Amino acid sequence: MGLRPGLSLLDVGCGIGRHLARAHGCRVTGVDLTEAYVAVAEALTRRVGLQGAISFRHGSALALPFTDGAFDGAYMLHVGMNVPDRSALFAGVRRVLRPGAVFAVHDVMRLAPGALDFPLPWTSGPEASFVESPAAYRRRSRTAAAAGNRSCVVLVRPAYGESCPASYGAAPDSASIPPRPRVGS
Ligand SMILES: C[S@@+](CC[C@H](N)C(=O)[O-])C[C@H]1O[C@@H](n2cnc3c(N)ncnc32)[C@H](O)[C@@H]1O
Repeated sequence: MGLRPGLSLLDVGCGIGRHLARAHGCRVTGVDLTEAYVAVAEALTRRVGLQGAISFRHGSALALPFTDGAFDGAYMLHVGMNVPDRSALFAGVRRVLRPGAVFAVHDVMRLAPGALDFPLPWTSGPEASFVESPAAYRRRSRTAAAAGNRSCVVLVRPAYGESCPASYGAAPDSASIPPRPRVGS
């Protein structure tokens, strides 16, 4: 992501928070749907003295409460598989990024077809599971960028697969992703 001190980053679905602020000197804004997580994140951040570098907002990734182009980069860790409308998610994140900024995604993704065997770590049933392949992620992110007529590079990394970095115009074939370990085979 080209992290360096002073960058303003958005942590989408931050949970109780992350520490790119401490490791790289970035200013991080976390947003999460679960109000209790935001409260815990704020308390933990104060406890480790990072309140000047990290702030949190209660809100949805599908209706981000930020102005256009507010961030130099964004990341999302283990969240997308619970979000029903990933196209809206990508469009929203693209809106709040400055042109050309990176959105890094590290999610649970589907690496093979087949029924999922619930319960799974991210949900007890299918009503809250929206797992997709890395190729589908790239397709949706490209569509969102094109619709908004703005560039935005997305790095997709399946949480339970090997690394497969991609950017617009250079997405590797999903068949090149190692098939193991699998989700839903
Ligand atoms: C598995 S946790 C991951 C938390 C954090 N990213 C991490 O890696 O520790 C998933 C998080 O996504 C949040 N979440 C789910 N749907 C969301 C949405 N539509 N908007 C914002 N946050 C959401 C949940 O509240 C939860 O905190």
